[in-house]
Amino acid sequence: MKKATIVIDSSYQVAKISERLFGSFIEHLGRAVYDGIYEPNHPLANDRGFRTDVIELVKALKVPIIRYPGGNFVSNFFWEDSVGPLEGRKTRLDLAWRTLEPNKVGLDEFYHWTQAVNADMMMAVNLGTRGVKDALNLLEYCNLNTDSYYANMRRSHGIEEPYHIKLWCLGNEMDGEWQIGKKTMEEYGRLSHETAKAMKMMDPSIELVSCGSSFKEMPTFPEWEAHTLMHNYDDVDYISLHQYYGNLNEDSSDYLAQSDDMDAFIKTVIATCDYVKAKKRSNKTMYLSFDEWNVWFHSKKQEQDITQNYPWQLAPHLLEEYYTFEDALMVGLMIITLMNHADRVKIACLAQLVNVLAPVMTEKEGKAWRQTIYFPFMQASQYGKGILLHTLNQSPCHQTLNHGRVTDIESTTVYNEETSEVTLFIVNRNIEENIEFEADIRRFKTCRLIEHQVLSHPDLKARNSSVAESVVPESVHYTKIEEGYLKTHLIGASWHMIRLKVS
Ligand code: AHR
Repeated sequence: MKKATIVIDSSYQVAKISERLFGSFIEHLGRAVYDGIYEPNHPLANDRGFRTDVIELVKALKVPIIRYPGGNFVSNFFWEDSVGPLEGRKTRLDLAWRTLEPNKVGLDEFYHWTQAVNADMMMAVNLGTRGVKDALNLLEYCNLNTDSYYANMRRSHGIEEPYHIKLWCLGNEMDGEWQIGKKTMEEYGRLSHETAKAMKMMDPSIELVSCGSSFKEMPTFPEWEAHTLMHNYDDVDYISLHQYYGNLNEDSSDYLAQSDDMDAFIKTVIATCDYVKAKKRSNKTMYLSFDEWNVWFHSKKQEQDITQNYPWQLAPHLLEEYYTFEDALMVGLMIITLMNHADRVKIACLAQLVNVLAPVMTEKEGKAWRQTIYFPFMQASQYGKGILLHTLNQSPCHQTLNHGRVTDIESTTVYNEETSEVTLFIVNRNIEENIEFEADIRRFKTCRLIEHQVLSHPDLKARNSSVAESVVPESVHYTKIEEGYLKTHLIGASWHMIRLKVS
């Protein structure tokens, strides 16, 4: 059996892992909101029309922030339509997904929902069809306690206390041709600078995210980042990254190697930020907000068919990915990659949360259930708290079609000083071979195994459903600690969480 080794030392501390690394995203898209989180006629709906079974599944994921209301949707969103008495709400056309938006769930309702799932809102402003003025009006409505027009409008809707939303996105994917109100890099650089400047004048406590490229393959990447940051470097706190992966070529080894692409993407954005920092002679470090990441490829045809041939529906089945076991491994690999960049990636949002590219699915009038990707995300958000440790890794490799030789084992190690725990998250992305794994933990005086949980399945294409959740993590009992070494094996194609009590 091939062997991988790792050396763990609590003094090799890289950075505290931001809790915001385990954020998510709800867009007014498909069945995310209507027939997703909100279904007033469902037997389990609460008095606001939100499904309590969905709330419970989301709460277990422990997402600290939820990005809202888009995505592409935000670029033609008129937030005033979504507040105030329900009877007066207008139905609008959503051009991004060519659907109807009834505005039954709006800003105030969504705020209450985020409270129910113990999360903060990460709000996006419309810089597609709108600009500085409307961003300011929205900020006043949400965050100000003043005796002024929009703060009073909020009060007139029965909401005395401001929401104090801390995190704001300055538009969404503004370089994309599909975006309503796409901008050139010069236009976006200027607009984001002016919007950020004014928003911070109104509320200096907020944090702002500038739009990076829509994905790494955009022809203007990374020039977009460099150019726009030259305009807004002093005004914003983060730059966004978005990327979705998929097994388009039906080659699982090559698919699972795509986390190396994510790693390279992050490194390039860091380098670009640091180039602007140097050029500006600045002392400020720009942080990264990877605020859309996931697997997205299964549902593309269906989505094209609906948006082109069956437009203007209310809550159609859009972007409903039915995730396989290998997709869960890919999600695990992406989580590991994000965690290993904890010094610079301070925000990340799994896109999305319910029904749309989602870990949680719902049936109308029926059950809510957990997809395969739910589990690695849940384990990481629950136990990925603390300090990222730099570890010395040695992994055997295997050959892939487009990524050359890649490591079999990818891992990240977290040290939680408060609980005296060390947690390892590991993926064996070699789909054919089991790997012997040994961690040198001699630097810890004492070390006890709390648990070793594994997500594995003989069929890479296995899925969960409302009837059966067959892809779920299980505890294994073959892992041992002997004379300062943790010894186990990692079966081909598997996700692992190993928790240790240390002193
Ligand atoms: O998450 C789905 C879509 O993907 C978002 O609306 C958009 O920002 C991205 O292209």
